[in-house]
Amino acid sequence: MPTHLIGRSVFGNPANAGRLIPLEEAHLLLNEWVPNERLRLHMKQVAAVMKAWAIEKEGADEKTALKWELAGLLHDADWEKYPNDHCRIIIEELERREIDPELIHCIASHGPKYFGVEPETKMDKMIYAFDELSGFIHAAALIRPTRYEGLDAKSILKKLKTASFAAQVNRDDINDVLSRIDTSLEDLITFIIEHQKQIN
Ligand SMILES: [Fe+2]
Repeated sequence: MPTHLIGRSVFGNPANAGRLIPLEEAHLLLNEWVPNERLRLHMKQVAAVMKAWAIEKEGADEKTALKWELAGLLHDADWEKYPNDHCRIIIEELERREIDPELIHCIASHGPKYFGVEPETKMDKMIYAFDELSGFIHAAALIRPTRYEGLDAKSILKKLKTASFAAQVNRDDINDVLSRIDTSLEDLITFIIEHQKQIN
């Protein structure tokens, strides 16, 4: 992916803290902006994993879990229609809608190398981690006759060592993710498989 440096690190208005886009509205936006079903599925899978992590690992309340879910659901919303301005357009849209700055920052920092925005909160770091791995795991599942059934972390770890498989997934980015969080790669993979397999 080419770099799309955003050129700033502060997003939204602190006065809008706690203002979330309703889930139905986020889905409408997605349907409108993202005709590509595969890309929509990717965002829905990252959303499911984000929500599950917030609840199970961070003890998040309903509203916080929704914030994590929305970040997953919208993080690539502008990719298909605005490939040259990826991330900037969805950020500006959410700012225009006066959405919670933490949610916008999370989306802005989901690829630090590409957007130039450092992940700060746990939510920022986890979307970075899940975005890298979710698509890779899904690609690995699709080439198996039984798809997600029987898919385990061990086979994903092996595929990650095969440079030719899903070569567009940058292995250095995955190492960068791991240096920022205290969860092992194997545990991350297991968690993602468990929570995205039912999102098809
Ligand atoms: Fe993504």
